[in-house]
Amino acid sequence: MTLLREHDLGTPERSSEALVSMEVDGMAVTVPAGTSVMRAAALAGVDIPKLCATDRLEAFGSCRLCLVEIDGARGTPASCTTPVAEGMRVSTQTPTLEKLRRGVMELYISDHPLDCLTCAANGDCELQDMAGAVGLREVRYGYAGENHFAAEKDETNPYFTFDPAKCIVCSRCVRACEEVQGTFALTIEGRGFASKVSPSGTNFFDSECVSCGACVQVCPTATLEEKSVISLGVPRRTVLTTCAYCGVGCSFKAELRGDEVVRMVPYKDGGANAGHSCVKGRFAWGYATHKERVLSPMVRDSIADEWREVSWDDAIGFAAARLTSIQERHGVGSIGAISSSRCTAEEVFVVQKMVRAAFGNNNVDTCARVCHSPTGYGLKQTFGTSAGTQDFRSVDQADVIVVIGANPTDAHPVFASRMKRRMREGARLVVIDPRRIDLVRSPHVEASYHLPLRPGTNVAVMNALAHVVVTEGLVDEGFVAQRCEDESFAAWREFVARPENSPEVVAELAGVPPEDLRATARLYAAGPNSAIYYGLGVTEHSQGSTMVMAMANLAMATGNIGREGVGVNPLRGQNNVQGSCDMGSFPHEFSGYRHVSDDAVRAIFEEAWGRTLEREPGLRIPNMFDAAVEGTFRALFVQGEDVAQSDPNTKHVKAALAALELLIVQDLFLNETAAFAHVFLPGTSFLEKDGTFINAERRINRVRPVMAPRNGKQEWEAVCELATAMGYPMGYERSSQIMDEIARTTPTFSGVSFELLDRVGSVQWPCNENAPLGTPVMHVGQFVRGKGHFVDTPYVPTDERTTRRFPLILTTGRILSQYNVGAQTRRTENVAWHAEDILEIHPFDAEERGVGEGDWVTIASRVGETVLRAHVSERMPQGVVYTTFHFPATGANVVTTEFSDWATNCPEYKVTAVQVRALAREPQAPANGRTSHDHEAGTAGRAGSELADTPAVLVD
Ligand code: SF4
Ligand code: SF4
Ligand code: SF4
Ligand code: FES
Repeated sequence: MTLLREHDLGTPERSSEALVSMEVDGMAVTVPAGTSVMRAAALAGVDIPKLCATDRLEAFGSCRLCLVEIDGARGTPASCTTPVAEGMRVSTQTPTLEKLRRGVMELYISDHPLDCLTCAANGDCELQDMAGAVGLREVRYGYAGENHFAAEKDETNPYFTFDPAKCIVCSRCVRACEEVQGTFALTIEGRGFASKVSPSGTNFFDSECVSCGACVQVCPTATLEEKSVISLGVPRRTVLTTCAYCGVGCSFKAELRGDEVVRMVPYKDGGANAGHSCVKGRFAWGYATHKERVLSPMVRDSIADEWREVSWDDAIGFAAARLTSIQERHGVGSIGAISSSRCTAEEVFVVQKMVRAAFGNNNVDTCARVCHSPTGYGLKQTFGTSAGTQDFRSVDQADVIVVIGANPTDAHPVFASRMKRRMREGARLVVIDPRRIDLVRSPHVEASYHLPLRPGTNVAVMNALAHVVVTEGLVDEGFVAQRCEDESFAAWREFVARPENSPEVVAELAGVPPEDLRATARLYAAGPNSAIYYGLGVTEHSQGSTMVMAMANLAMATGNIGREGVGVNPLRGQNNVQGSCDMGSFPHEFSGYRHVSDDAVRAIFEEAWGRTLEREPGLRIPNMFDAAVEGTFRALFVQGEDVAQSDPNTKHVKAALAALELLIVQDLFLNETAAFAHVFLPGTSFLEKDGTFINAERRINRVRPVMAPRNGKQEWEAVCELATAMGYPMGYERSSQIMDEIARTTPTFSGVSFELLDRVGSVQWPCNENAPLGTPVMHVGQFVRGKGHFVDTPYVPTDERTTRRFPLILTTGRILSQYNVGAQTRRTENVAWHAEDILEIHPFDAEERGVGEGDWVTIASRVGETVLRAHVSERMPQGVVYTTFHFPATGANVVTTEFSDWATNCPEYKVTAVQVRALAREPQAPANGRTSHDHEAGTAGRAGSELADTPAVLVD
């Protein structure tokens, strides 16, 4: 489409059941009470000139350009700050108003550089537009007076510039940073003529700015401007698509000039983000055209050989012949595949179809295995469906927000901004996390309680909260009686009431004061609307599934489920982790979470695919690795996942990969896993994909191709060709046909089609005849499984214990500017903020070890050791250290262990007993975990091997 300009209605929408009717320039319009005259006029088709107003921000009333006349009222009020009234009659275009507006514009223009023809924003500048709209032809004051033309330009931010000479001090940027982003990085300094925008008295890079881009987006001039627009020019056309980073699933306008992406602008009608973004989706997309992308298929007979570039046909033929031969020699179950949550739902669906129909087994698993598989298990047991209960918008109705094991400001930034806005409106916050994450205290937001529990004690803490609810009479008896099972509730009530679950007992082992546990439970139960949001700090534990069920129990017992403002909500790590689970990527389930042993379900797919399908579940990822080491599992297809970097116990993973007879990697870059591969099939970036991503709210978002596949093929085409070459003909003419097949075979998707998504924007599954436009909030009226099921959740400490040798607990997480294994973000300017993984350590633990700020340290567990730099921080509790895992040079998973969730095998990334020691001097490059292991894992032939794409999954 041509460049999409969203209609700016001037002030935000008001929701009120009371409606007001009025007239604008003789046209009747009816709007909700509280709406501004400016917005009402825009809805009536009359755009009143404006500069300081935009519908993304509350009205400010500073520029005086939007004046109107109102019958019976004195003067010329600003339409942006004047609310409508019944029977009001407004005139927007009178000689008086025109004169006044020209006068205002004259003042602005007299202090604005007249370089429109050479300005980067020429043709995309509201000041220019408004000068035209008010008919300004001359500036009577001239340009010789006092002005700001000599103000120095700030180019410190990697992605945008700040040119104060062009600033009209409308303060839209300041307000966007406060109202939309919630960072409060900008202020207006000085008064009158001297007033100016300031990033807290310093430059943008050194300020609190997190580069979300909200200020750039609302700036009506070229003062704040994307550097890409300055270098490439104003874009000419738009493709609507979806961010490929985290599970928030922000919608973007990809704006292009010719075939080149100029910028990504968050889309106002995006269901998940409503026009907001973070630095990754907004700016860090350059990796898609990075020179290290591999665009040709490659093969080699042995990982000791150099890669040979070959045609697609040869690569597919090479892979198919070997897969077939391995099955002939070692059996049908000797091969399998891992699909990726970075890929589209359609791509993932096709991979599991290839495994089940062409490979003839169920050996398919997905990277969700190592992140949110306990969510799927736990929520299915209790509520009946493997997904979060709410849409993001629901948080606007929450009174109490409990964030557990998640760090939304870094890992889910756009949703964090929405949460923070709700907290500024008065919602109370509880943070349950070992680390004092930013949410605990940020501008105008402070947690009522922070429970800095010891890693591994989640379940005990949740049981203690439930104990208080049950023993202090805080159960919502009516809800439980009506909506939940009597028997399982009675058993659970008895269980949590036991003394061992009391806050006083739990306080000892969790390290949290009992009074804080009691106060948190009371606050949550009092609500009235209490919502739980959680991340991988919940799931990546040996009791991950237990913890998910414990949270679900608490929500049911207090009636916090089944309406807006409440719920149990996983903050999904990756863009399509929900979708990859939905699409049947687990070895025991078809799409829609239906077990492979269910004859009726299998019959649906046997009919659709024309093959008899295996009824026994296949191998999970860790089972595949174990079987590879044992020699019974011989070949693996890995789609868009870098298991050699992202999965736990790197040494074991690499040993498994090295033992394979055939490893096929489909990816963007030659990653760590590709070092062990025999076939490399180039993948597509999100800018080339055509399909859907499904976000943390079950929202199915379209991903539209911005450019043709740079490798010449969609990923699903390559997979179909591989299946076909193995003797199972598989093919589609276009991606929409894959979604059509998903809809035909999956009841929760039966109403979904690309046509529907193109028409309505996005829908949340279930989307079927009962809910043709999707389901924003689940379990309304009744649970998907009927009655809510309580599960007893006894606390069982992890086997991973601190010892004298390994006295500290390591836990891991993400940082805002980087993403998972960093394959994408490390190939962007985001490295300016975070160029290496850092170990955070409490001052006491640091001092005890002689570790100072910035010192090099070794961190060792019983399975491995790596080297990185230390940051001494009181954010950490004593005895706990923390790092990110974005850089292969650090290889944080070298130290993580084989322990995993009892129900799902999700690795226990969050609890590793370690020791930290100061290094006397800087290590020889590369300072990393590979120094101790890589040579053991057969990395010969990895010349040119590089970093990683995708999943990683360690943390939220
Ligand atoms: S930088 Fe832009 S948005 Fe901010 S005050 Fe200046 S003109 Fe307005
Ligand atoms: S980019 Fe975002 S965080 Fe930075 S100043 Fe602008 S609005 Fe604030
Ligand atoms: S919040 Fe997540 S989905 Fe949204 S722009 Fe940032 S990384 Fe992308
Ligand atoms: S737009 Fe109304 S005062 Fe600026």
